[in-house]
Amino acid sequence: MSGGLVTAAYIVAAVLFIFSLAGLSKHETSKMGNTFGVLGMAIALIATIFGPYSSNVGWIIMAMIIGGAIGIYLARKVEMTEMPELVAILHSFVGLAAVLVGFNSYIVGPHMEGVPAHELQVVLNIHNVEVFLGIFIGAVTFTGSVVAFGKLRGIISSKPMMLPHRHKLNLAAVLVSFVLMVLFVNSDSTGFQVFALLIMTLIALAFGWHLVASIGGADMPVVVSMLNSYSGWAAAAAGFMLSNDLLIVTGALVGSSGAILSYIMCKAMNRSFISVIAGGFGTDGSSTGEDEEVGEHRETTAEEVAELLKNSSSVIITPGYGMAVAQAQYPVADITAKLRERGIKVRFGIHPVAGRLPGHMNVLLAEAKVPYDIVLEMDEINEDFPDTDTVLVIGANDTVNPAAMEDPRSPIAGMPVLEVWKAQNVIVFKRSMNTGYAGVQNPLFFKENTQMLFGDAKESVDKILRAL
Ligand code: TAP
Repeated sequence: MSGGLVTAAYIVAAVLFIFSLAGLSKHETSKMGNTFGVLGMAIALIATIFGPYSSNVGWIIMAMIIGGAIGIYLARKVEMTEMPELVAILHSFVGLAAVLVGFNSYIVGPHMEGVPAHELQVVLNIHNVEVFLGIFIGAVTFTGSVVAFGKLRGIISSKPMMLPHRHKLNLAAVLVSFVLMVLFVNSDSTGFQVFALLIMTLIALAFGWHLVASIGGADMPVVVSMLNSYSGWAAAAAGFMLSNDLLIVTGALVGSSGAILSYIMCKAMNRSFISVIAGGFGTDGSSTGEDEEVGEHRETTAEEVAELLKNSSSVIITPGYGMAVAQAQYPVADITAKLRERGIKVRFGIHPVAGRLPGHMNVLLAEAKVPYDIVLEMDEINEDFPDTDTVLVIGANDTVNPAAMEDPRSPIAGMPVLEVWKAQNVIVFKRSMNTGYAGVQNPLFFKENTQMLFGDAKESVDKILRAL
């Protein structure tokens, strides 16, 4: 394949990636967006592998078959609730790849053919800066994503790690790396340059680890989208080192869309963007509302809940992560249909970070064929709770926690929540008094108008369905 053809293929692939992002931004067009992305990537891969700059094509194809087989196996096996973990670990691969490309690019050196003699030093300096930044961003993305994976999987505590002087440590890591970059670029000694690269890599690995470990569970949605953004910038940096235009464009698309998503998430959660990306900067770390219980709770039965629902004229269902775990969306859709047949007004209230990935609840409810028009965003429904007879909180916890509004020292303080406690009756479906993802107890469970329905959400909803 000639160089000109490869460039043309890259332009087509870049346009398809932009169509893909546009398609993925809406529910109705998301499948088409996905197809555009797959098509764009297929064109990009074929053009790169069979282009003039590739050699050892047999090895590349073999590596792709092995990697592709692992990818297909994992994608088929992964549960919807495990998607954020999978995304986090995939981000770590992008970071690691950028580190490896960086070291390789340092060893191989820049393309110098045709460069006039008086510009050689400038080209070399630019290349060295690309190598240094590429390795730095890649290493931060790598360990940050590994920690995010650990936190999402529950291997690492979701509570923020609070090292003394943590912000000074972060600042020192950035400053020392910057000084090392200046020395690296200006040095003529290969020995010193390798030493500087290795020290910076170690610092960046520790920095990435610390940055994400310092962020509490409730801010993980922002962290995941932020790492998505970092992985894009790491890929763009690799694109500069490999002089691959498409990788630069694709990396920049991922980097900027991840940054926009992080910003939207921060707004939805009332968090400062800068504070979150700087490892929780501006939070003092002291918090209340850990997992101790704060009163007496009341329990109810499925039959009593069925009776309550029959006597209600308006019902709001607020689903959360537990509904996804229990796969309770299908009986929830059945209950909704049954109540609507009886003339009861039923709607859903969806918190922007309910579940474990953006739009998680919307996808589940759409899967179970709940009509779109009764599924409302938090902002659209929050004012209606005082006029609601019964709220069913199905496997949600942090997203309905009044401590976010009432306790300024709570780790989730300031985060907007669904104000379910303002309804006449609140039924909470969960298995125990355990905390939610953020690890804080929920005063909702001890309010006078709240009753707990313990058990697996699907089993509880099935029992109510039978009793209706
Ligand atoms: P959570 O606060 O995570 O609470 C879920 C509740 O579901 C738990 O308290 C659990 O209680 C219950 N549960 C689990 N399995 C269940 C089952 N089989 N049957 C019934 N209940 C079950 O949920 P949420 O309100 O959706 O909040 C989401 C949290 O995740 C937020 O803190 C958010 O910041 C974080 N997060 C969100 C995202 C995105 S982008 N959405 C990404 C990462 C993290 P029991 O154990 O007692 O049953």
